[in-house]
Amino acid sequence: MNLTGKNAVITGGSTGMGFATAQLFVERGARVVITGRSQARLDSALARLGPRAAAIRGDVASLADLDALAAAVTDPIDALFVNAGIVHTAPLESMTEELYDDLFAVNVKGAYFTVQKLAPRLRPGAGVVLTTSTANVMGMPAISAYAAGKAALRSMARTLSAELLPRGVRVNAISPGPIDTEILAAGMPADAAAQFKADRAAENPMGRLGTPEEIARAVAFLAFEGTYATGIELVVDGGVTQL
Ligand SMILES: NC(=O)c1ccc[n+]([C@@H]2O[C@H](COP(=O)([O-])OP(=O)(O)OC[C@H]3O[C@@H](n4cnc5c(N)ncnc54)[C@H](OP(=O)(O)O)[C@@H]3O)[C@@H](O)[C@H]2O)c1
Repeated sequence: MNLTGKNAVITGGSTGMGFATAQLFVERGARVVITGRSQARLDSALARLGPRAAAIRGDVASLADLDALAAAVTDPIDALFVNAGIVHTAPLESMTEELYDDLFAVNVKGAYFTVQKLAPRLRPGAGVVLTTSTANVMGMPAISAYAAGKAALRSMARTLSAELLPRGVRVNAISPGPIDTEILAAGMPADAAAQFKADRAAENPMGRLGTPEEIARAVAFLAFEGTYATGIELVVDGGVTQL
């Protein structure tokens, strides 16, 4: 689909799936605003995305930063990819209040208020895509707080759909399985990270991790092409939750 004349905002657009989605949207002709906390990562992304992309530095856990983002984005938005997220892994007995609060501040509160603050800018016909995770339907150890937060986002895809549909805005979720990005083995030493990724690939029905580009194409569908879809969660996981 040609996206010339379309405007997109992607939180967490400097690396991983957010960056791959920004790349796809720009290639198809859209103008894209990406966000993230690290200016260095934003600069490096912009250098690769070219003149149709712009960056606004900010932390989605900060409502002041989200207000600044909403003020800076003056053009009507056609696609909002609510993608910024973090992972902290810890089993129940060692999860701390600090890590728990940080996960929910970024992944849940950050996503919710991103939609609230940018909703006035959404054009009728716009698509919002929330980033959940296959972790929200699986009982995987050491990610209980992360998984619970992603389950909250899955719920919001339904409720926010109901609230925004009268304005002609669709809200859906993309649920990635194991995708080869920085976050997948975040915080692990290099050898443990390599082993973790190899294990995730081996247990997957497709025998491999997914790529950020495979998620980007699914996000493009939800954001622009899936005009009769709202409130759904599109699972893109190599079949690991289904087969
Ligand atoms: N990779 C997987 O296997 C997988 C599976 C399921 C779901 N997910 C979800 O997919 C989303 C994207 O992750 P990814 O895999 O593409 O990892 P990634 O490469 O680490 O990308 C995360 C992006 O979010 C930004 N970010 C993180 N915290 C932020 C904050 N507080 N405010 C603003 N931006 C923030 C990062 O930039 P800065 O660090 O510079 O802020 C970066 O641009 C996340 O929501 C993640 O939970 C990932």
